[in-house]
Amino acid sequence: MIRLDCWHPVARSVDLRAQPIGARVGDAEVVVFRGADGRLGALNDRCPHRGMRLSLGTVQPDGCLACPYHGWAFAPDGAGRCPATPALTPRAPTWDVVERDGAVWVKRGGPAHFPDLGGRGWAPVTVLRHRAKAPLELVLDNFTEVEHTGRVHAFFGYAEADLAAVETRVEARDDAVRVYNRGPQRDIGRALRGLLGIRPGDHFVDDWTTRFAPVHVCYDQYWIDPATGAPRPRRLRVAVVFVPAGPAVTDLFTFVYTNGGGGLGAQLTDRLLRPLLVGFTDLEVRLDLRLVSRLADRDTALTGRRLGRFDRVLGEHRRRIDRLYRRPREVE
Ligand code: FES
Ligand SMILES: [Fe+2]
Repeated sequence: MIRLDCWHPVARSVDLRAQPIGARVGDAEVVVFRGADGRLGALNDRCPHRGMRLSLGTVQPDGCLACPYHGWAFAPDGAGRCPATPALTPRAPTWDVVERDGAVWVKRGGPAHFPDLGGRGWAPVTVLRHRAKAPLELVLDNFTEVEHTGRVHAFFGYAEADLAAVETRVEARDDAVRVYNRGPQRDIGRALRGLLGIRPGDHFVDDWTTRFAPVHVCYDQYWIDPATGAPRPRRLRVAVVFVPAGPAVTDLFTFVYTNGGGGLGAQLTDRLLRPLLVGFTDLEVRLDLRLVSRLADRDTALTGRRLGRFDRVLGEHRRRIDRLYRRPREVE
């Protein structure tokens, strides 16, 4: 069982309109809804009357969520009313809910530090949501090594022929694991190079840090002149939050940011680049998820696997997931 007392994203802001949205976080089911006045609510997705899914209900003009079965309705604070028996005052268990970084986040109990995704200097580009049909650890494995990128990805990462020259360094701290990768940028064509403001022969740096409650990775991506080591102006920040939604299902929320690039024509290139960043990120995540859904072996244990130099993080991640994120009774 995972910790529910840390913030998990459960819906993109743009998707939460008049209809409530149900989501699963670990073993728990939650419904989030938004009243006409914008007030958010998050309740257990189970009517306290006879167990109907509240996420199939409707939001009333007063901002209460009405159950589709017998019409009992619940306010964001959980207080319920029962139209057929007004003297009855049912309650629905509530979750803490906030809207931040373009997503709706929930937690149950406990003060929790909010994950630092974008922050100062980063302009948000998009938030994407995907579902992986694989356990958390195996999805995270894929998202935290670059060895697959030449073979699997269309634009992202390093060409297969260059992988032997890619430098990868792991820095494991108590509550975080950082991986720094640097190597030749793969050929992405002149137009895209121009939009990113990079030159042929530039090196691509992918410097990411994984944290564990919730499990999320912040990727800082930029290009450098290999001769001088000087960075080009454009930088990208991609943050992916991994939400276990069952033993073999993981929901991913991907937050994309850019720094604006700087220099002459930055505004124009920014306008052209943004839709491309949305499309490319969506494509690349889908390529990863198609791959991990086809693994022959869904066992998350690493015993018996023959691991390579890019796989050192796999064990570091598992130890921290067990210690910082899963409840003790699941720790082996
Ligand atoms: S089950 Fe929800 S009102 Fe009856
Ligand atoms: Fe990938």
